[in-house]
Amino acid sequence: MNFRLAAVALAAALLGGMVALAVLPGPREQVSRALPSAGQALVGGPFTLVDHTGKTVTDKDFRGRFMLIYFGFTNCPDVCPSGLQVMSAALDKLGAKADQVTPILITVDPERDTPEQLASYVSSFHPRLVGLTGSPEQITAALKAYRVYAKKVEDPKSSAGYTYDHTSLIFLMGRNGDYVAHFTHATSVERIAERLAQAL
Ligand code: NI
Repeated sequence: MNFRLAAVALAAALLGGMVALAVLPGPREQVSRALPSAGQALVGGPFTLVDHTGKTVTDKDFRGRFMLIYFGFTNCPDVCPSGLQVMSAALDKLGAKADQVTPILITVDPERDTPEQLASYVSSFHPRLVGLTGSPEQITAALKAYRVYAKKVEDPKSSAGYTYDHTSLIFLMGRNGDYVAHFTHATSVERIAERLAQAL
């Protein structure tokens, strides 16, 4: 193998490694680094789910408004509540303009997160927070569209005996449903509010 070929092979191997890293499931509550920083149509897409009032909704029902979407579950001890808290605080900071944004929690745990369970949970974070659940197939499809990793794992400390390892990301989607930006549960309230103000 001559030098040039070797260099090409090395570059290909490096790229392959990066791609593999980007798609492999990571540790608990990981933050994916594979996401684009600018608005590319790589994340998001159609979904059909059931809201916390028991009504079937699709992504199209949210058109014309921004969506701030967090994937998590109501039995999550700390990370999900942090994510929902910063989302809610950022909306409060925005003031009246926040009316153009629908905050949404999509559960990764449809087994425990029934519409009833979601209803009592979402109201404790924000009066307009929409909780979405669905059949395991509907949830899997939504996770796939948003490239969110969620895996059921044994947890003897939980009364149900299991918990979820999952990506902790907050997605900002535009009025047409396209990806705009993403944050994590650790992003500051100020930073999220600033980015929202810029997008609205
Ligand atoms: Ni969580």
